[in-house]
Amino acid sequence: MNHSSQTSRWRALSKIATNLASSSKQFLADEDRYDQFSFEASGILLDLSKQKITREILQELLSLANEKDLANKIEALFSGGNVNITENRPALHTILRNPDGDDERAKQVRSDLQRIESCVTDINTGRWRGYSGKSITQIVHIGIGGSHLGQALVTEALKKKSGNLQIAFVTNMDPEDLESTLLGIDAERTIFIIASKSFSTIETIENATAAKNWFLGRTNDPGATTNHFLAISNNYDAAVAFGIDRKNIFPVADWVGGRYSLWSAMGLIIALGSGFDNFKRLLAGAKSMDDHFRSSPFESNLPVLLALTGIWNSNFLNINNHLILPYAERLKMLPAFLQQLEMESNGKSVDTYGRKLDINTAPLIWGGTGTDSQHSFHQLLLQGTQSFSADLILVGSSKSRFRQEQRNWLLANALAQTRAMLVGHDDEDPHKAMQGGHGTNTLVLEELNAFTLGSLLSLYEHKVFCQGAIWNINPFDQYGIEQGKQLAPSIYKQLTDGSELQWDASTNGLINQFRKGEQNG
Ligand code: F6P
Repeated sequence: MNHSSQTSRWRALSKIATNLASSSKQFLADEDRYDQFSFEASGILLDLSKQKITREILQELLSLANEKDLANKIEALFSGGNVNITENRPALHTILRNPDGDDERAKQVRSDLQRIESCVTDINTGRWRGYSGKSITQIVHIGIGGSHLGQALVTEALKKKSGNLQIAFVTNMDPEDLESTLLGIDAERTIFIIASKSFSTIETIENATAAKNWFLGRTNDPGATTNHFLAISNNYDAAVAFGIDRKNIFPVADWVGGRYSLWSAMGLIIALGSGFDNFKRLLAGAKSMDDHFRSSPFESNLPVLLALTGIWNSNFLNINNHLILPYAERLKMLPAFLQQLEMESNGKSVDTYGRKLDINTAPLIWGGTGTDSQHSFHQLLLQGTQSFSADLILVGSSKSRFRQEQRNWLLANALAQTRAMLVGHDDEDPHKAMQGGHGTNTLVLEELNAFTLGSLLSLYEHKVFCQGAIWNINPFDQYGIEQGKQLAPSIYKQLTDGSELQWDASTNGLINQFRKGEQNG
Protein backbone atom coordinates (compact mmCIF):
# COMPACT_ATOMS: atom_id res chain seq x y z
CA MET A 1 0.00 0.00 0.00
CA ASN A 2 1.26 3.47 -0.92
CA HIS A 3 2.08 6.11 1.64
CA SER A 4 -0.44 8.94 1.42
CA SER A 5 1.75 11.37 -0.50
CA GLN A 6 2.51 8.83 -3.19
CA THR A 7 -1.00 8.40 -4.58
CA SER A 8 -1.90 10.09 -7.84
CA ARG A 9 -4.76 12.00 -6.22
CA TRP A 10 -2.48 13.30 -3.49
CA ARG A 11 0.05 14.44 -6.10
CA ALA A 12 -2.70 16.12 -8.14
CA LEU A 13 -3.87 18.07 -5.10
CA SER A 14 -0.28 19.07 -4.25
CA LYS A 15 0.13 20.42 -7.77
CA ILE A 16 -3.07 22.45 -7.56
CA ALA A 17 -1.94 23.85 -4.21
CA THR A 18 1.45 24.84 -5.60
CA ASN A 19 -0.16 26.69 -8.50
CA LEU A 20 -2.75 28.40 -6.33
CA ALA A 21 -2.23 32.15 -6.28
CA SER A 22 -1.44 33.39 -2.79
CA SER A 23 -4.06 36.11 -3.17
CA SER A 24 -7.66 35.46 -2.24
CA LYS A 25 -8.95 37.55 -5.19
CA GLN A 26 -9.93 34.52 -7.30
CA PHE A 27 -12.16 33.24 -4.50
CA LEU A 28 -13.74 36.60 -3.88
CA ALA A 29 -14.60 37.07 -7.54
CA ASP A 30 -16.92 34.06 -7.47
CA GLU A 31 -20.39 35.46 -6.71
CA ASP A 32 -22.05 32.08 -6.21
CA ARG A 33 -19.65 30.88 -3.59
CA TYR A 34 -22.05 31.04 -0.68
CA ASP A 35 -24.68 28.93 -2.45
CA GLN A 36 -22.08 26.48 -3.68
CA PHE A 37 -20.20 25.99 -0.46
CA SER A 38 -22.72 26.16 2.35
CA PHE A 39 -24.44 23.03 3.62
CA GLU A 40 -26.99 22.24 6.30
CA ALA A 41 -27.91 19.27 8.47
CA SER A 42 -29.30 18.57 11.95
CA GLY A 43 -29.66 22.18 13.03
CA ILE A 44 -26.21 23.27 11.79
CA LEU A 45 -25.19 25.35 8.82
CA LEU A 46 -21.62 24.80 7.64
CA ASP A 47 -20.31 27.58 5.43
CA LEU A 48 -17.06 26.76 3.64
CA SER A 49 -17.27 29.66 1.23
CA LYS A 50 -14.45 31.53 2.97
CA GLN A 51 -12.09 28.59 2.50
CA LYS A 52 -9.44 28.73 -0.21
CA ILE A 53 -11.14 26.07 -2.28
CA THR A 54 -12.73 25.92 -5.69
CA ARG A 55 -15.22 23.42 -7.18
CA GLU A 56 -12.31 21.63 -8.78
CA ILE A 57 -10.39 21.38 -5.49
CA LEU A 58 -13.43 20.09 -3.65
CA GLN A 59 -14.00 17.52 -6.37
CA GLU A 60 -10.41 16.32 -6.05
CA LEU A 61 -10.74 16.12 -2.27
CA LEU A 62 -13.92 14.08 -2.61
CA SER A 63 -12.10 11.73 -4.96
CA LEU A 64 -9.32 11.45 -2.40
CA ALA A 65 -11.92 10.37 0.18
CA ASN A 66 -13.13 7.69 -2.21
CA GLU A 67 -9.60 6.60 -3.00
CA LYS A 68 -9.06 6.16 0.77
CA ASP A 69 -12.14 3.92 0.97
CA LEU A 70 -13.88 6.29 3.36
CA ALA A 71 -17.38 4.88 2.77
CA ASN A 72 -16.37 1.38 3.91
CA LYS A 73 -14.46 2.78 6.85
CA ILE A 74 -17.57 4.71 7.98
CA GLU A 75 -19.63 1.53 7.72
CA ALA A 76 -17.03 -0.33 9.79
CA LEU A 77 -17.26 2.36 12.48
CA PHE A 78 -21.04 2.09 12.80
CA SER A 79 -21.28 -1.67 12.50
CA GLY A 80 -18.74 -2.42 15.23
CA GLY A 81 -15.71 -3.27 13.07
CA ASN A 82 -12.31 -3.37 14.74
CA VAL A 83 -11.57 0.27 13.94
CA ASN A 84 -9.35 0.68 17.01
CA ILE A 85 -6.87 -1.61 15.40
CA THR A 86 -3.98 -1.27 17.85
CA GLU A 87 -6.19 -2.03 20.84
CA ASN A 88 -8.14 -4.62 18.91
CA ARG A 89 -11.65 -3.30 19.59
CA PRO A 90 -14.49 -1.33 18.05
CA ALA A 91 -15.28 2.32 18.85
CA LEU A 92 -19.02 2.25 19.32
CA HIS A 93 -19.91 5.62 20.82
CA THR A 94 -22.63 5.86 18.16
CA ILE A 95 -24.59 3.05 19.93
CA LEU A 96 -24.77 5.28 22.99
CA ARG A 97 -26.99 7.63 20.97
CA ASN A 98 -28.91 4.87 19.21
CA PRO A 99 -29.45 2.00 21.64
CA ASP A 100 -32.25 0.26 19.76
CA GLY A 101 -32.34 -3.44 19.06
CA ASP A 102 -31.59 -6.68 20.88
CA ASP A 103 -27.85 -6.48 20.75
CA GLU A 104 -26.33 -6.98 24.25
CA ARG A 105 -24.51 -3.67 24.01
CA ALA A 106 -27.70 -1.77 23.18
CA LYS A 107 -29.49 -3.47 26.09
CA GLN A 108 -26.69 -2.40 28.42
CA VAL A 109 -26.92 1.19 27.17
CA ARG A 110 -30.71 1.24 27.79
CA SER A 111 -30.25 -0.08 31.30
CA ASP A 112 -27.51 2.52 31.99
CA LEU A 113 -29.86 5.26 30.80
CA GLN A 114 -32.54 4.05 33.20
CA ARG A 115 -30.06 4.09 36.04
CA ILE A 116 -29.01 7.63 35.16
CA GLU A 117 -32.63 8.72 35.04
CA SER A 118 -33.51 7.27 38.42
CA CYS A 119 -30.34 8.61 40.04
CA VAL A 120 -31.15 12.11 38.73
CA THR A 121 -34.76 11.84 39.92
CA ASP A 122 -33.70 10.62 43.36
CA ILE A 123 -31.21 13.43 43.83
CA ASN A 124 -33.42 16.18 42.38
CA THR A 125 -36.54 15.21 44.31
CA GLY A 126 -34.67 14.85 47.59
CA ARG A 127 -35.36 11.11 47.80
CA TRP A 128 -31.61 10.56 47.88
CA ARG A 129 -30.44 11.40 51.39
CA GLY A 130 -26.99 11.89 52.80
CA TYR A 131 -25.74 9.99 55.87
CA SER A 132 -27.38 12.44 58.25
CA GLY A 133 -30.73 12.40 56.46
CA LYS A 134 -30.33 15.67 54.52
CA SER A 135 -30.99 16.08 50.81
CA ILE A 136 -28.19 16.75 48.30
CA THR A 137 -27.41 20.27 47.10
CA GLN A 138 -23.80 19.93 45.89
CA ILE A 139 -22.00 17.64 43.45
CA VAL A 140 -18.21 17.52 43.16
CA HIS A 141 -17.19 15.80 39.94
CA ILE A 142 -13.65 14.41 39.97
CA GLY A 143 -12.19 13.26 36.64
CA ILE A 144 -9.74 14.40 33.97
CA GLY A 145 -9.27 14.40 30.18
CA GLY A 146 -12.07 12.51 28.48
CA SER A 147 -13.68 11.96 31.87
CA HIS A 148 -14.07 15.70 32.32
CA LEU A 149 -13.86 17.93 29.25
CA GLY A 150 -17.01 16.91 27.36
CA GLN A 151 -19.07 16.66 30.52
CA ALA A 152 -17.94 20.06 31.76
CA LEU A 153 -18.49 21.69 28.34
CA VAL A 154 -22.05 20.40 28.03
CA THR A 155 -22.96 20.95 31.68
CA GLU A 156 -21.78 24.54 31.41
CA ALA A 157 -23.53 25.09 28.07
CA LEU A 158 -26.89 23.67 29.15
CA LYS A 159 -27.04 24.37 32.85
CA LYS A 160 -30.38 25.39 34.24
CA LYS A 161 -30.55 28.92 35.45
CA SER A 162 -32.80 27.93 38.35
CA GLY A 163 -31.40 24.58 39.53
CA ASN A 164 -30.89 23.85 43.26
CA LEU A 165 -27.86 21.71 42.61
CA GLN A 166 -24.40 23.31 42.70
CA ILE A 167 -21.83 21.56 40.52
CA ALA A 168 -18.06 21.81 40.79
CA PHE A 169 -15.45 20.05 38.66
CA VAL A 170 -12.05 19.08 40.01
CA THR A 171 -9.40 17.90 37.56
CA ASN A 172 -5.97 19.19 38.46
CA MET A 173 -3.76 17.36 40.96
CA ASP A 174 -2.64 20.71 42.31
CA PRO A 175 -3.95 20.39 45.90
CA GLU A 176 -5.18 23.98 45.83
CA ASP A 177 -7.78 23.07 43.20
CA LEU A 178 -9.56 20.57 45.46
CA GLU A 179 -8.98 22.61 48.59
CA SER A 180 -10.60 25.72 47.17
CA THR A 181 -13.55 23.67 45.87
CA LEU A 182 -14.13 22.12 49.30
CA LEU A 183 -14.06 25.47 51.08
CA GLY A 184 -17.56 26.24 52.20
CA ILE A 185 -19.03 22.91 51.04
CA ASP A 186 -21.40 21.08 53.38
CA ALA A 187 -20.29 17.41 53.55
CA GLU A 188 -23.73 16.28 54.67
CA ARG A 189 -25.28 17.56 51.44
CA THR A 190 -22.51 16.68 48.95
CA ILE A 191 -22.06 13.82 46.49
CA PHE A 192 -18.65 13.11 44.95
CA ILE A 193 -18.70 11.52 41.50
CA ILE A 194 -15.41 9.79 40.72
CA ALA A 195 -15.32 9.59 36.93
CA SER A 196 -12.52 7.36 35.71
CA LYS A 197 -12.88 4.64 33.13
CA SER A 198 -9.67 2.95 34.30
CA PHE A 199 -10.02 3.99 37.95
CA SER A 200 -6.25 4.27 37.96
CA THR A 201 -5.56 7.76 36.60
CA ILE A 202 -3.26 9.26 39.19
CA GLU A 203 -4.79 12.77 39.24
CA THR A 204 -8.29 11.40 39.77
CA ILE A 205 -7.32 8.80 42.36
CA GLU A 206 -5.23 11.32 44.35
CA ASN A 207 -8.07 13.86 44.31
CA ALA A 208 -10.69 11.21 45.15
CA THR A 209 -8.58 9.95 48.07
CA ALA A 210 -8.08 13.48 49.39
CA ALA A 211 -11.83 14.15 49.03
CA LYS A 212 -12.67 10.94 50.89
CA ASN A 213 -10.26 11.81 53.70
CA TRP A 214 -11.79 15.30 53.92
CA PHE A 215 -15.26 13.76 54.05
CA LEU A 216 -14.32 11.19 56.70
CA GLY A 217 -12.65 13.92 58.72
CA ARG A 218 -16.07 15.55 58.98
CA THR A 219 -18.20 12.49 59.58
CA ASN A 220 -15.88 10.18 61.54
CA ASP A 221 -17.92 7.28 60.21
CA PRO A 222 -16.53 5.06 57.39
CA GLY A 223 -20.08 3.87 56.60
CA ALA A 224 -21.11 7.45 55.81
CA THR A 225 -19.41 7.38 52.42
CA THR A 226 -22.08 5.06 50.94
CA ASN A 227 -24.54 7.75 49.90
CA HIS A 228 -21.86 10.33 49.10
CA PHE A 229 -19.47 8.61 46.68
CA LEU A 230 -20.43 7.39 43.19
CA ALA A 231 -18.08 6.03 40.56
CA ILE A 232 -18.31 5.84 36.78
CA SER A 233 -15.84 3.23 35.67
CA ASN A 234 -14.94 0.14 33.72
CA ASN A 235 -12.88 -1.08 36.68
CA TYR A 236 -15.40 -2.22 39.32
CA ASP A 237 -12.80 -3.95 41.47
CA ALA A 238 -10.67 -0.84 41.86
CA ALA A 239 -13.73 1.30 42.59
CA VAL A 240 -14.93 -1.17 45.23
CA ALA A 241 -11.43 -1.38 46.72
CA PHE A 242 -11.49 2.42 46.96
CA GLY A 243 -14.61 2.12 49.10
CA ILE A 244 -17.45 2.73 46.67
CA ASP A 245 -20.59 0.67 47.10
CA ARG A 246 -21.12 -1.67 44.13
CA LYS A 247 -24.66 -0.30 43.61
CA ASN A 248 -23.19 3.19 43.21
CA ILE A 249 -20.90 2.25 40.32
CA PHE A 250 -22.04 3.14 36.79
CA PRO A 251 -20.33 1.17 34.03
CA VAL A 252 -18.42 2.40 30.97
CA ALA A 253 -17.83 -0.26 28.33
CA ASP A 254 -14.33 -0.84 26.97
CA TRP A 255 -15.60 0.05 23.47
CA VAL A 256 -16.26 3.64 24.62
CA GLY A 257 -13.08 5.73 24.29
CA GLY A 258 -12.42 8.33 27.00
CA ARG A 259 -12.79 11.35 24.72
CA TYR A 260 -15.96 9.85 23.21
CA SER A 261 -17.55 9.04 26.58
CA LEU A 262 -19.78 11.99 27.47
CA TRP A 263 -22.70 10.11 25.89
CA SER A 264 -22.29 7.15 28.25
CA ALA A 265 -22.88 6.95 32.00
CA MET A 266 -20.04 9.50 32.07
CA GLY A 267 -22.83 11.94 31.15
CA LEU A 268 -24.48 11.51 34.57
CA ILE A 269 -23.26 14.97 35.56
CA ILE A 270 -24.83 16.46 32.41
CA ALA A 271 -28.18 14.89 33.30
CA LEU A 272 -27.83 16.17 36.87
CA GLY A 273 -26.93 19.68 35.76
CA SER A 274 -29.36 20.15 32.89
CA GLY A 275 -32.03 17.48 33.47
CA PHE A 276 -32.43 13.97 32.08
CA ASP A 277 -34.68 15.22 29.24
CA ASN A 278 -31.92 17.50 28.04
CA PHE A 279 -29.45 14.63 28.19
CA LYS A 280 -31.83 12.65 25.95
CA ARG A 281 -32.11 15.60 23.55
CA LEU A 282 -28.32 15.83 23.45
CA LEU A 283 -28.19 12.15 22.46
CA ALA A 284 -30.93 12.74 19.87
CA GLY A 285 -28.97 15.61 18.32
CA ALA A 286 -25.86 13.43 18.08
CA LYS A 287 -27.90 10.58 16.56
CA SER A 288 -29.35 12.92 13.98
CA MET A 289 -25.82 13.92 12.90
CA ASP A 290 -24.76 10.24 12.99
CA ASP A 291 -27.59 9.36 10.60
CA HIS A 292 -26.68 12.25 8.30
CA PHE A 293 -23.02 11.19 8.35
CA ARG A 294 -23.77 7.54 7.67
CA SER A 295 -26.24 8.06 4.84
CA SER A 296 -25.56 11.35 3.02
CA PRO A 297 -23.49 11.57 -0.14
CA PHE A 298 -20.05 12.97 0.55
CA GLU A 299 -20.87 16.05 -1.57
CA SER A 300 -23.27 17.29 1.12
CA ASN A 301 -21.97 15.40 4.16
CA LEU A 302 -20.98 17.90 6.86
CA PRO A 303 -18.38 15.80 8.75
CA VAL A 304 -16.78 14.69 5.47
CA LEU A 305 -16.64 18.24 4.10
CA LEU A 306 -15.26 19.66 7.34
CA ALA A 307 -12.61 16.92 7.37
CA LEU A 308 -11.67 17.51 3.74
CA THR A 309 -11.22 21.26 4.09
CA GLY A 310 -9.05 20.55 7.15
CA ILE A 311 -6.95 18.17 5.06
CA TRP A 312 -6.68 20.74 2.28
CA ASN A 313 -5.37 23.28 4.78
CA SER A 314 -3.00 21.00 6.70
CA ASN A 315 -1.65 18.77 4.00
CA PHE A 316 -1.68 20.93 0.88
CA LEU A 317 -1.50 24.51 2.13
CA ASN A 318 0.79 23.53 5.03
CA ILE A 319 -1.27 25.31 7.66
CA ASN A 320 -0.58 23.80 11.03
CA ASN A 321 -2.62 25.97 13.37
CA HIS A 322 -6.35 25.53 13.56
CA LEU A 323 -8.40 27.80 15.78
CA ILE A 324 -11.73 27.14 17.42
CA LEU A 325 -13.55 30.41 18.04
CA PRO A 326 -17.05 30.04 19.50
CA TYR A 327 -18.93 33.33 19.56
CA ALA A 328 -21.06 32.12 22.49
CA GLU A 329 -19.97 32.30 26.10
CA ARG A 330 -21.82 29.07 26.90
CA LEU A 331 -19.43 27.26 24.54
CA LYS A 332 -16.31 28.58 26.20
CA MET A 333 -14.97 25.09 26.85
CA LEU A 334 -15.34 24.02 23.23
CA PRO A 335 -11.71 24.86 22.29
CA ALA A 336 -10.39 22.75 25.20
CA PHE A 337 -12.74 19.87 24.36
CA LEU A 338 -11.78 19.88 20.68
CA GLN A 339 -8.14 20.22 21.56
CA GLN A 340 -8.32 16.81 23.24
CA LEU A 341 -10.67 15.28 20.67
CA GLU A 342 -8.52 16.25 17.69
CA MET A 343 -5.01 16.22 19.12
CA GLU A 344 -5.33 13.07 21.26
CA SER A 345 -7.07 11.25 18.42
CA ASN A 346 -5.03 12.31 15.41
CA GLY A 347 -1.75 13.47 16.92
CA LYS A 348 0.03 10.48 15.38
CA SER A 349 3.06 9.98 13.17
CA VAL A 350 2.78 6.36 12.06
CA ASP A 351 0.05 4.79 9.94
CA THR A 352 -2.06 1.77 10.93
CA TYR A 353 0.71 -0.49 9.64
CA GLY A 354 3.19 1.19 11.99
CA ARG A 355 5.04 2.94 9.13
CA LYS A 356 6.40 6.45 9.60
CA LEU A 357 4.12 8.93 7.85
CA ASP A 358 5.51 11.42 5.36
CA ILE A 359 2.57 13.81 5.66
CA ASN A 360 1.15 16.10 8.34
CA THR A 361 -1.55 14.79 10.64
CA ALA A 362 -3.58 16.83 13.19
CA PRO A 363 -2.67 20.52 13.36
CA LEU A 364 -2.26 22.38 16.64
CA ILE A 365 -5.76 23.16 17.90
CA TRP A 366 -6.28 26.20 20.07
CA GLY A 367 -8.68 29.08 20.43
CA GLY A 368 -10.94 31.03 22.72
CA THR A 369 -14.29 32.73 22.91
CA GLY A 370 -15.10 35.60 20.59
CA THR A 371 -15.14 38.54 21.06
CA ASP A 372 -12.73 38.19 24.01
CA SER A 373 -10.21 36.55 21.69
CA GLN A 374 -10.32 39.60 19.40
CA HIS A 375 -8.89 41.66 22.25
CA SER A 376 -6.09 39.18 22.75
CA PHE A 377 -4.55 37.02 20.02
CA HIS A 378 -6.39 38.20 16.87
CA GLN A 379 -3.67 40.82 16.37
CA LEU A 380 -1.33 37.96 15.44
CA LEU A 381 -4.03 36.38 13.28
CA LEU A 382 -4.60 39.56 11.33
CA GLN A 383 -1.08 40.91 11.02
CA GLY A 384 1.33 38.24 12.26
CA THR A 385 3.47 35.90 10.22
CA GLN A 386 1.92 32.53 11.14
CA SER A 387 -0.52 30.74 8.91
CA PHE A 388 -3.74 29.40 10.39
CA SER A 389 -7.26 28.29 9.62
CA ALA A 390 -10.24 28.67 11.95
CA ASP A 391 -13.75 27.52 12.76
CA LEU A 392 -16.05 30.29 13.98
CA ILE A 393 -19.11 28.92 15.74
CA LEU A 394 -22.11 31.25 15.85
CA VAL A 395 -25.60 30.91 17.23
CA GLY A 396 -28.42 31.88 14.87
CA SER A 397 -31.08 32.80 17.37
CA SER A 398 -31.20 33.21 21.08
CA LYS A 399 -33.82 33.13 23.81
CA SER A 400 -31.79 35.68 25.72
CA ARG A 401 -33.87 38.36 27.38
CA PHE A 402 -31.19 40.86 26.54
CA ARG A 403 -31.22 43.21 23.65
CA GLN A 404 -31.21 41.91 20.12
CA GLU A 405 -28.79 44.72 19.42
CA GLN A 406 -26.13 43.12 21.60
CA ARG A 407 -26.48 39.79 19.79
CA ASN A 408 -26.23 41.49 16.40
CA TRP A 409 -22.99 43.14 17.53
CA LEU A 410 -21.63 39.71 18.45
CA LEU A 411 -22.52 38.30 15.02
CA ALA A 412 -21.21 41.40 13.23
CA ASN A 413 -17.89 41.04 14.99
CA ALA A 414 -17.56 37.40 14.00
CA LEU A 415 -18.36 38.14 10.35
CA ALA A 416 -16.01 41.12 10.36
CA GLN A 417 -13.19 38.88 11.57
CA THR A 418 -13.74 36.20 8.93
CA ARG A 419 -13.86 38.83 6.23
CA ALA A 420 -10.70 40.55 7.46
CA MET A 421 -8.91 37.21 7.77
CA LEU A 422 -9.65 36.30 4.14
CA VAL A 423 -9.77 39.65 2.39
CA GLY A 424 -7.24 41.59 4.46
CA HIS A 425 -6.97 45.37 4.21
CA ASP A 426 -4.99 47.51 1.76
CA ASP A 427 -3.43 50.59 3.27
CA GLU A 428 -0.67 52.90 2.22
CA ASP A 429 0.68 52.68 5.73
CA PRO A 430 2.25 49.22 6.05
CA HIS A 431 1.58 49.25 9.81
CA LYS A 432 -2.11 49.34 9.10
CA ALA A 433 -2.32 46.93 6.17
CA MET A 434 -3.53 43.36 6.64
CA GLN A 435 -2.48 40.71 4.21
CA GLY A 436 -5.52 38.40 4.50
CA GLY A 437 -5.60 35.08 2.69
CA HIS A 438 -6.61 33.03 5.75
CA GLY A 439 -9.47 30.62 5.06
CA THR A 440 -12.10 29.96 7.74
CA ASN A 441 -15.21 27.85 8.27
CA THR A 442 -18.33 29.40 9.74
CA LEU A 443 -20.66 27.07 11.62
CA VAL A 444 -24.07 28.39 12.64
CA LEU A 445 -26.24 26.58 15.18
CA GLU A 446 -29.87 27.48 14.53
CA GLU A 447 -30.15 27.84 18.32
CA LEU A 448 -27.88 26.73 21.15
CA ASN A 449 -29.78 23.90 22.82
CA ALA A 450 -29.19 20.26 23.80
CA PHE A 451 -30.10 18.95 20.34
CA THR A 452 -27.84 21.26 18.34
CA LEU A 453 -24.99 20.83 20.81
CA GLY A 454 -25.25 17.04 20.48
CA SER A 455 -25.25 17.45 16.73
CA LEU A 456 -22.21 19.78 16.80
CA LEU A 457 -20.10 17.45 18.96
CA SER A 458 -21.00 14.45 16.82
CA LEU A 459 -20.06 16.49 13.72
CA TYR A 460 -16.57 17.06 15.15
CA GLU A 461 -16.18 13.44 16.29
CA HIS A 462 -16.89 12.27 12.76
CA LYS A 463 -14.67 14.93 11.21
CA VAL A 464 -11.82 13.53 13.30
CA PHE A 465 -12.72 9.99 12.24
CA CYS A 466 -12.68 10.93 8.53
CA GLN A 467 -9.32 12.63 8.82
CA GLY A 468 -7.89 9.59 10.62
CA ALA A 469 -9.29 7.38 7.85
CA ILE A 470 -7.75 9.51 5.10
CA TRP A 471 -4.39 9.72 6.87
CA ASN A 472 -4.68 5.99 7.55
CA ILE A 473 -3.98 6.36 11.27
CA ASN A 474 -5.82 5.01 14.32
CA PRO A 475 -7.70 7.89 16.00
CA PHE A 476 -8.77 5.73 18.94
CA ASP A 477 -5.54 4.99 20.82
CA GLN A 478 -3.29 7.37 22.80
CA TYR A 479 -0.05 5.55 23.50
CA GLY A 480 1.88 8.83 23.78
CA ILE A 481 -0.16 9.77 26.84
CA GLU A 482 0.10 6.29 28.33
CA GLN A 483 3.89 6.40 27.96
CA GLY A 484 4.04 9.78 29.68
CA LYS A 485 1.96 8.38 32.54
CA GLN A 486 4.45 5.55 33.02
CA LEU A 487 7.46 7.86 33.38
CA ALA A 488 6.02 9.90 36.23
CA PRO A 489 6.00 7.17 38.94
CA SER A 490 9.76 6.55 38.59
CA ILE A 491 10.46 10.26 38.84
CA TYR A 492 8.03 10.56 41.77
CA LYS A 493 9.93 7.81 43.58
CA GLN A 494 13.25 9.56 43.07
CA LEU A 495 11.85 12.89 44.21
CA THR A 496 10.98 11.31 47.52
CA ASP A 497 13.89 8.89 48.14
CA GLY A 498 17.63 9.54 48.10
CA SER A 499 18.52 7.04 45.37
CA GLU A 500 21.11 7.72 42.69
CA LEU A 501 19.69 9.68 39.75
CA GLN A 502 19.81 8.13 36.28
CA TRP A 503 18.18 10.72 34.03
CA ASP A 504 19.55 13.41 31.77
CA ALA A 505 21.47 16.27 33.39
CA SER A 506 18.52 18.65 33.31
CA THR A 507 16.07 16.24 34.95
CA ASN A 508 18.67 15.20 37.55
CA GLY A 509 19.42 18.86 38.30
CA LEU A 510 15.76 19.71 38.83
CA ILE A 511 15.12 16.63 41.00
CA ASN A 512 18.10 17.64 43.17
CA GLN A 513 16.68 21.14 43.41
CA PHE A 514 13.33 19.82 44.70
CA ARG A 515 15.09 17.40 47.07
CA LYS A 516 16.93 20.38 48.59
CA GLY A 517 13.65 22.26 48.88
CA GLU A 518 12.13 19.31 50.77
CA GLN A 519 15.10 19.20 53.18
CA ASN A 520 14.90 22.93 53.86
CA GLY A 521 11.11 23.04 54.06
O1 F6P B 1 -5.72 12.14 29.33
C1 F6P B 1 -5.36 10.90 28.89
C2 F6P B 1 -6.39 9.88 29.16
O2 F6P B 1 -5.79 8.63 28.93
C3 F6P B 1 -7.62 10.09 28.30
O3 F6P B 1 -7.61 9.39 27.13
C4 F6P B 1 -8.71 9.71 29.24
O4 F6P B 1 -9.90 10.27 28.83
C5 F6P B 1 -8.20 10.29 30.53
O5 F6P B 1 -6.83 9.96 30.50
C6 F6P B 1 -8.86 9.82 31.79
O6 F6P B 1 -8.83 8.43 31.94
P1 F6P B 1 -9.72 7.71 32.99
O7 F6P B 1 -11.15 7.92 32.66
O8 F6P B 1 -9.34 6.27 32.90
O9 F6P B 1 -9.40 8.27 34.35
